[in-house]
Amino acid sequence: MLSGYNRCEIMDTPSTRRQFLRQSLCVVAAGILPWSAIKAAAEENVSGPRSLRAHAQAHGLLVGCAVVPEKLADETPYANTVAQQANLLVAENAMKWRALRPAPDKYNFAPADAILAFANAHDQGLRGHNLCWHEALPDWFQTTVTHENARQILTTHIQHVAGHFAGKLHSWDVVNEAIDVKDGRPDGLRKSPWLDLVGPDYVEIAFRTAHKADAKVLLTYNDYGIELDTPEQEQKRAQVLALVKRLKSRHVPIHAVGIQSHLTAGEGIPGAGLREFIRELRAMDMQVFITELDVSDHKLTGSAAERDDAVAKLYGDYLSLVLAEPNVKAVLTWGITDKYTWLNHQHRRSDGLQQRCLPFDVEYQPTPVFFAMRDALDARRRP
Ligand code: XIL
Repeated sequence: MLSGYNRCEIMDTPSTRRQFLRQSLCVVAAGILPWSAIKAAAEENVSGPRSLRAHAQAHGLLVGCAVVPEKLADETPYANTVAQQANLLVAENAMKWRALRPAPDKYNFAPADAILAFANAHDQGLRGHNLCWHEALPDWFQTTVTHENARQILTTHIQHVAGHFAGKLHSWDVVNEAIDVKDGRPDGLRKSPWLDLVGPDYVEIAFRTAHKADAKVLLTYNDYGIELDTPEQEQKRAQVLALVKRLKSRHVPIHAVGIQSHLTAGEGIPGAGLREFIRELRAMDMQVFITELDVSDHKLTGSAAERDDAVAKLYGDYLSLVLAEPNVKAVLTWGITDKYTWLNHQHRRSDGLQQRCLPFDVEYQPTPVFFAMRDALDARRRP
């Protein structure tokens, strides 16, 4: 039955999903195949050996996405897509302080544990995100944490949380978004509650405590706004490098830098500055993970197809650039389906349309982003 569509030789032209659909419609119109068979074939086209995870694995790479435990449990297409496409997961929110610490003396590990169980069941790694950040702090933080107890509360949290997951995670984002050049400090540190309450050595304390709690997990510094060749982002990259150098010179355990990669179509294309940054990290023996990749289309006008092309092109260009660097080991998108992207809240489109920013659309069909990602994974040199 599939011979008709095999003859079209459409399965191996990955970047041409629209062409595939156009051809498929012709086949349907010609009465050769029912639409359900075309749809099934399209699904087959991106699963198993044609999935992102299979293509990543063939090149020694990890690929995956941020996930929401409730969706994994309640929405079968969501769970199936995540299981099919990812060999590495990260909790979008379930491992943040606000989620884990409903009260100072109470931990709620159930949602995060559910993600870990899902990952284990599907032979996937799991990243921890995150142990120390100025956002997603619980409401009790402000009234409970003081200059006197902040250091203790930070270390207890890390001991407890990293201890709970010890030996079970691929990596931890130990410190998230600690640099903000706009705050004007010579060390580049952001004016955050942690800086204020603990002092600048909070970063070092967090990494050392995490290492004591889990000696095996890769410890990561994660940040955003370090992708483009603008003066501001160049300065931020320099401060991140300086921070990593300071930590390494003091023998602080740190193994990787996470480049969040929340990009915006129409806002510039990452280039030489990012490449150089990744190379400098390699010279310091640091791995690099692309931790939160997505492309907002809120600045784009034009038809859905035009926007899709621009978003997919940026994905392709970006991934080709970073995956050419051998210390880049993992790529995670911030979500798997446009249905649940945070960008619909973060960068709401003024025309009210949904963001089209991830490898699967709201109906769990692969988008041009999917094919751009898969092509870029394939272009990676084999290990
Ligand atoms: C975002 C989540 O996607 C949202 O659901 C939540 O409301 C706010 O946080 N940088 C990070 C992530 O490190 O944790 C953020 O995730 C996105 C920006």
